[in-house]
Amino acid sequence: MEAPHNSPAAETVSEPAGATVPEAVRPVPEAVAVTLTVTSPEQMQDLGRRLARVLAPGDLVMLTGELGAGKTTLPRGLGEGLGVRGAVTSPTFVIARVHPSLVQGPALVHVDAYRLGGGLDEMEDLDLDVSLPESVVVVEWGDGKVEELSEDRLRVLIDRATGDTDDERREVTLVGIGARWAGLREQLA
Ligand SMILES: Nc1ncnc2c1ncn2[C@@H]1O[C@H](COP(=O)(O)OP(=O)(O)O)[C@@H](O)[C@H]1O
Ligand SMILES: [Mg+2]
Repeated sequence: MEAPHNSPAAETVSEPAGATVPEAVRPVPEAVAVTLTVTSPEQMQDLGRRLARVLAPGDLVMLTGELGAGKTTLPRGLGEGLGVRGAVTSPTFVIARVHPSLVQGPALVHVDAYRLGGGLDEMEDLDLDVSLPESVVVVEWGDGKVEELSEDRLRVLIDRATGDTDDERREVTLVGIGARWAGLREQLA
């Protein structure tokens, strides 16, 4: 699958035909990180609503964190903030669900890649590269699977502040990768 070249830097990267250059040897794009603490599921949704204000069509958001961390709670707020149809849930049988906009904005494509193998074929079946330019694509469990959709991406790392699963505190680290997210700190302010 040919990754969409939506950052100017991509034009200068020449890759040998038929080979994929591993992430580690590509020119390292600038990364900006912001760490926040949220103390309840409601605050996590609020963060999603705040994030929705800075998201635009073509944005890829990757959510990382253990089961129950809050990876689905955050996009629930995102969906509300974007004004899309339907509540974001953890789909049991569906891997990707499209939530169309009710306000003529971008659709929200919510992907739970947990059951997806790392294989490109399965990923290609979802046609995320086709939806991405006009949507905000949010992926849970996408590490090592969806990076090549976009050179620019926002990673959201969610950690329980303590090992206690009853503790509602979460440390959320937003890592903006690529030129798109160079102003992440200002955008979230
Ligand atoms: N600060 C918090 N942020 C998000 N969810 C929280 C928080 N504190 C407790 N929870 C609870 O943890 C669970 C998170 O579930 P979910 O978002 O589906 O996680 P994941 O998708 O990462 O498996 C929910 O039951 C939610 O109510
Ligand atoms: Mg989930």
